[in-house]
Amino acid sequence: MHKYFLFLLFIFQLPICFSDFIVADAKLKDENEIKTNYWYENLEYWMTRLPPKLKRVPIIYLAIPGSHNSMTYTIQKNSTIARDKFVGIKRIISFFSKNPIFNWSVNQNSNVTDQLNHGIRYLDLRVYANRSSNEFYFVHGLNGEEITEHLQSISDWLDNHQKEIIILDFQHLYNFNSTVHDILIRKINDIFKDKLVPKTSKMKKLTVSFLNSQNQQVIVIYRDPKVDDHVNLWPGNLWPNPWGNTAEASELLKFLDNGVTTRDDTVGFVSQIILTAGPMYFVHSREKFLSNLHTSLGGEMEKVSDKWLKKNYPGFGGMNIVITDFVSDRDYKFCKDVIRKNEKMIRLTKP
Ligand SMILES: *[C@@H]1O[C@H](CO)[C@@H](O)[C@H](O)[C@H]1NC(C)=O
Ligand SMILES: *[C@@H]1O[C@H](CO)[C@@H](O)[C@H](O)[C@H]1NC(C)=O
Ligand SMILES: *[C@@H]1O[C@H](CO)[C@@H](O)[C@H](O)[C@H]1NC(C)=O
Ligand SMILES: *[C@@H]1O[C@H](CO)[C@@H](O)[C@H](O)[C@H]1NC(C)=O
Ligand SMILES: *[C@@H]1O[C@H](CO)[C@@H](O)[C@H](O)[C@H]1NC(C)=O
Repeated sequence: MHKYFLFLLFIFQLPICFSDFIVADAKLKDENEIKTNYWYENLEYWMTRLPPKLKRVPIIYLAIPGSHNSMTYTIQKNSTIARDKFVGIKRIISFFSKNPIFNWSVNQNSNVTDQLNHGIRYLDLRVYANRSSNEFYFVHGLNGEEITEHLQSISDWLDNHQKEIIILDFQHLYNFNSTVHDILIRKINDIFKDKLVPKTSKMKKLTVSFLNSQNQQVIVIYRDPKVDDHVNLWPGNLWPNPWGNTAEASELLKFLDNGVTTRDDTVGFVSQIILTAGPMYFVHSREKFLSNLHTSLGGEMEKVSDKWLKKNYPGFGGMNIVITDFVSDRDYKFCKDVIRKNEKMIRLTKP
């Protein structure tokens, strides 16, 4: 009871104001007691617990953590070769061993429930359609698991977290034709039903409090022209997600800065803190090829992430969705850092 009272007191005292640059810096007497009640500490319910003022900020101006290749934890060493990209090269490599492919295919080590419980609210999905069995697999280099059960577990999670909002990005759809598109889209509608947020070009209307009032919880981005026929699917141009395509930390930092400073303020924006090993990366080093993504580039990505998040803020002309690899590393430090950025915002309107 006592704690609850202090929590309310804390919420109403937050000196947040959005007219200018702002910093929430609550000075409280008993810091230790209050500490467990900071809204950014229980990441399982971070949107539920956002201060009321932040709930009225358009979600395209909130800092929201996401995972890159979110479902690749379902890939195993013995998984079959996926028919996504570089299929010929992968077949040749796998003639000797599948391990190198496995080592560069997995971008996340924690399961989707764990990711959501730790604050991830944007999932990057790549799906392969088996047109003869009408089954759909998460893929990246190798085949992951069939998608149905996983989408269902995301929906179940939302039932238990009714004030939380997530964004599902169907980023790449391999081997699709019109028939299987229809099957997948029906599946998405059957699983998420009324939770789906209908698309609108007036994205500034979408705030956590507005979506809560409509009992809507899922924005589904569907990066295919098929999107035009469906009110509950969002086209990619409302959520641009430019990819740096570099293995160089300094280049990636420049690319990320440029992304947020030139972003369109009327739509969402995904900043990808991703270093990518292109063919040239391996040409210079056989050791790198025989290593793995986590040890080769994981540490560098952490450094870029720490550095970039330190000097950037959400708000108008700022960050929105931010994604990276291995989000569970360092006890989900990435999620904590991104969510906490919402404490301080740059402007919410044009200067
Ligand atoms: C891969 O191995 C696991 C056990 O480690 C097994 O459960 C699974 O069925 C295997 N998958 C394939 C595609 O062989
Ligand atoms: C997901 O991961 C968590 C943490 O490792 C574990 O407790 C939970 O059982 C996992 N869930 C599934 C469905 O595998
Ligand atoms: C597609 O499904 C069919 C029927 O279950 C199966 O025989 C075939 O191997 C699958 N194809 C791929 C590429 O997984
Ligand atoms: C899509 O592919 C399946 C399997 O090859 C086929 O049965 C179906 O007619 C195709 N649909 C279209 C619209 O071409
Ligand atoms: C894959 O990564 C592991 C470390 O996780 C390493 O021990 C192994 O040598 C790598 N295998 C190949 C073929 O690159």
